Amino acid sequence: MREIEPWPCFYRFRQTEVEILLHHLNLPRVNTILEIGCGIAFNAVLLSAYAWRYIATDLPEPDPQTHTRGMFLAQRLLDIVGAKNIELVDCSATDLSKIESESVDVVYSSYVLEHIPPSYRDRVMQEIHRVLVEGGIVITVVPNFVERAWNYLRHYVKPPLRGIYRVCKYFYLKIGKYQTHPFVSFIRIKSSSSEPRKINIFPPPHGFYESSLQELLFHFPGRWDKLHCRNKFKLLRKFTISWTIPWMSRHTIYLYEATRGLNKKLGGRFPFKYLGISYCIVAQKAKI
Ligand SMILES: C[S@@+](CC[C@H](N)C(=O)[O-])C[C@H]1O[C@@H](n2cnc3c(N)ncnc32)[C@H](O)[C@@H]1O
Repeated sequence: MREIEPWPCFYRFRQTEVEILLHHLNLPRVNTILEIGCGIAFNAVLLSAYAWRYIATDLPEPDPQTHTRGMFLAQRLLDIVGAKNIELVDCSATDLSKIESESVDVVYSSYVLEHIPPSYRDRVMQEIHRVLVEGGIVITVVPNFVERAWNYLRHYVKPPLRGIYRVCKYFYLKIGKYQTHPFVSFIRIKSSSSEPRKINIFPPPHGFYESSLQELLFHFPGRWDKLHCRNKFKLLRKFTISWTIPWMSRHTIYLYEATRGLNKKLGGRFPFKYLGISYCIVAQKAKI
């Protein structure tokens, strides 16, 4: 499984997220769960115990623009773990015509809607509404504005810190007798990307927006709520499943795992539910 892990500690992050999600949901076993944008289908493996039939969908071919890794990786993972009740279906969230109307009890998506351009999101919600049985629920996990705000911080705070580091390093190497100094290593912040700096803080695939500010505004919880409400869903619950800093690494996974009890306790309460880096909405299909 290690060779198809998308980034370090991915399995541990997603496992912790699903654990917190299930704590908030209290999900009974249902007939059919449909997952949209399943990625390598790891969440599908974890959640498939809650359905007799689990349909995991995604775009088929790898595409960095949409963060698509390719269905072949999902198939590889299912072959490795031997999940029997998971079916892989290649289709876009904007066209779920391969799924029958009113045939699904729960629709789940984790970090998918933000990759779909805003002008197509209503279409996705309408498709979800169509495939759900009456009273069926949709569980949507998306990044919150807090996560987007971190990008501003990284963008504006990192360059001055890097400048301080360079000055310290210059003087230290000139004056001192060591190659590195603990203080210098401490304040050193590595560039996360070797690409030239872009003016838009959020480059594609998070860049379907006219400006960074517009992207930030699109990630306010109210926007995600409205998307559900105007497409005939009744909001049932809102909570956060992630409070750590939006930096998925070997170091932050410890912080995330250590604080999961706190997250379970407070993640559904005001104002904490709006202050995590993720935002989760549970909504029910309302009658038309
Ligand atoms: C950040 S990944 C999340 C993957 C997985 N759900 C997880 O939580 O690890 C975003 C996923 O959204 C999928 N995606 C993007 N645009 C899509 C679309 N129009 N229809 C279906 N899936 C889409 C990508 O293929 C990718 O698998």
